[in-house]
Amino acid sequence: MKYLAVLGRQPKISLAELECLFDNVQPVGAELAEFEAKSVLDIRRLGGTQKLAVQIEVNLQDFLKSLPDKGKLTIGVSDYSRGATAFRAQGEALKIKRILTKLGHSVRVVPNKSATLSSATSFHNHLFDDNKIELVKYGKKYYRVIGVQNIDAYVKRDQARPARDAKVGMLPPKLAQILINLCGDLPDHSRLLDPFCGTGVVLQEAALIGYVPYGTDVSERMVEYSRKNLEWLQTVTPVALCPGSRRSGPSSRASRVACSAAASAPPQTKATDATFAVAQGDATNFQWTSPIDAVACEGYLGQPMSLPPAEIKLKQEKQECGSIVLGFLKNLSGQIESDTPVVIAVPAWLRPNGEYERLNLLDEIKNLGYNVKSFRNLGQKDLLYHRDQQVVAREIIVLRKK
Ligand SMILES: C[S@@+](CC[C@H](N)C(=O)[O-])C[C@H]1O[C@@H](n2cnc3c(N)ncnc32)[C@H](O)[C@@H]1O
Repeated sequence: MKYLAVLGRQPKISLAELECLFDNVQPVGAELAEFEAKSVLDIRRLGGTQKLAVQIEVNLQDFLKSLPDKGKLTIGVSDYSRGATAFRAQGEALKIKRILTKLGHSVRVVPNKSATLSSATSFHNHLFDDNKIELVKYGKKYYRVIGVQNIDAYVKRDQARPARDAKVGMLPPKLAQILINLCGDLPDHSRLLDPFCGTGVVLQEAALIGYVPYGTDVSERMVEYSRKNLEWLQTVTPVALCPGSRRSGPSSRASRVACSAAASAPPQTKATDATFAVAQGDATNFQWTSPIDAVACEGYLGQPMSLPPAEIKLKQEKQECGSIVLGFLKNLSGQIESDTPVVIAVPAWLRPNGEYERLNLLDEIKNLGYNVKSFRNLGQKDLLYHRDQQVVAREIIVLRKK
């Protein structure tokens, strides 16, 4: 099946996530990517994709004729073609309405404030149901949206956890999902290690995908936070993690991800039943227990900062963070098998000129026995995750043990 992804706010990082999971990923314009997958996909598995659509292989008339013939239809159009306008997208939607009305449907059109509907509009109008349809247009091609990112579910996953700590930095669950997916599509029940687990955001997302989380951290307090959050996750239902969701997902592994539909989940179903392990340990010398099928983590990011640091401070931070990253990768290298994926987010600091200063450790990392992944559609410089003017950014490094 041919899929189209509407990429997230950091499109290159979203593209990297897709490249690690699917075949033939091709960027289409700046904010879309086409790719192929054999199975039915679920957007809840993808941290970096805002909307997921499938290509309509037949001509538009035949597609419209194939829609369910009972009840009211809601139609929205997002036109991502070059030069598209709200007026043109709305014109397209009204043209489709006329055709459907002739076919005997009663049709409501979602108004276009711009050429493309925002994902909030698409989500709140449920434009991924049988009779609520969003068509994506790109040039002459049409796609039908099958899933829209549920922002409320991510917020809930983040804020409903019993143990949170602003000081260790708040890894957004979406970015945790991306870090995990950059390890590739792992078999069910793969054991995923986060050796800097903090409050356990990566571990939580790993459990929701269907992996077995294994977390360690130098701080005993953080280990307890992770334990508490993972225990909590085992007690909540998918519905509790997915407000406003009402559509069932396909019966793939991804459908077990937290927001599987309220409607279809029996009340006693748990969001995850994954067993987990957590332990206190310094990542630069800890002996982990086997197996370790993949490693995904946000490493130590140094001190939180609200202004770009002075040169001397920057030097100290680089030295401290760099030595933890290298010490960890050296220690890990002898403990994992060849080809094990290792993904780590490391800090980069905003400078007064608006650029980010990185740790620049790739050559040393290669010497420790790792290959750095090369992507087809992006380079290492693109793997920098930050909000506007955020002082400490996260640079993502994607490795495989040699
Ligand atoms: C940026 S935080 C990670 C936050 C985490 N992603 C979460 O979900 O809360 C970095 C973590 O690394 C831990 N840490 C720092 N140095 C460490 C080391 N040498 N070994 C293991 N953990 C370390 C800190 O205690 C902190 O919890």
